[in-house]
Amino acid sequence: MVCGVSKEDEVIVPTLTFIAAVNPVKYIGAEPIFMDCDDSLCMDANKLLEFCLNECSFIDGKLINNHTKKHIKAIIVVHVFGNMANMEKIMKTAERFNLKVIEDATEALGTYYTDGQYKGKYAGTIGTVGIYSFNGNKIITTGGGGMIVSDNEELLNQAKHLTTQAKSDELYYTHDEIGYNYRMTNLQAALGLAQLEQLEDFIGIKEDNYNLYKEAINEIQGLSILDFEENIRSNYWFYALKCNDSFPLNRDEIIEYLSSKGIQSRPIWGLINEQKPYIVSQSYKIEKAKHYIERIVNIPCSSSLSDEEVRYVIECLKIINLE
Ligand SMILES: Cc1ncc(COP(=O)(O)O)c(C=O)c1O
Repeated sequence: MVCGVSKEDEVIVPTLTFIAAVNPVKYIGAEPIFMDCDDSLCMDANKLLEFCLNECSFIDGKLINNHTKKHIKAIIVVHVFGNMANMEKIMKTAERFNLKVIEDATEALGTYYTDGQYKGKYAGTIGTVGIYSFNGNKIITTGGGGMIVSDNEELLNQAKHLTTQAKSDELYYTHDEIGYNYRMTNLQAALGLAQLEQLEDFIGIKEDNYNLYKEAINEIQGLSILDFEENIRSNYWFYALKCNDSFPLNRDEIIEYLSSKGIQSRPIWGLINEQKPYIVSQSYKIEKAKHYIERIVNIPCSSSLSDEEVRYVIECLKIINLE
């Protein structure tokens, strides 16, 4: 809403993400257009540009979807599993076509660029607005709730207004529009601040475990651990095990096998453009997202994992090839 999206508009969103990143488009009655991912698992910046050039018209500073004739106002970018989308290209496209960029940096809190135009910039601080969720499974948590960041003070004031019941007068309780109770409680915020102090320690543990997994698993025929982009310092939030077609078990069989050994693992989310509420929505050349969801298993990644536990997962995966 603070990016000026209203119910007549459209927003370009990723299909490979958790549904929470997309639902707000529908909450305000706007329509999503689903975009594919690239090998980073984040939105494919090349397909995004291709879509804007070939499927839309840029008229009087507005990007109009040729298919629906609606105004596309924004892009939601999700930085998946601690990786970072190609923000240089995405921001260029956004500037060219007057699109606001909403970065859902929930999964990449602490990830930053180490090279390029955005060197030193953290996930969530490049677009118009950045969003972080502090749900229970995130790298830091407050039990629930989240945070909005931006360098646009007016936008932040408007966000605060809307998330606290749009109260225009504190004393007399006057309200100038329909607001929401989306604020974080002060108890949660206190917990969040204490958690934030530990962020770098959590990232250190996750990085060590990632390297342990990666070195051993990349030696196993048919398996690999997906890399993070070269020009970033990732927060190593989630580890994506990729099973190639040469591996004796497929994705679901690996999950079942690990479960029989007492290890929880999981597939990536179901693609959002295939979920019931979105089946009729427009999507653009969804190819890589399909490839990856069929082949990726997320393996244990908690910052409380011990070395022995990581080694146990590795040993179980090694045995599959021998059995
Ligand atoms: C990309 C992404 N956005 C949002 C959320 C959650 O958002 P909320 O705090 O609104 O439940 C998650 C996961 O919980 C997520 O992975």
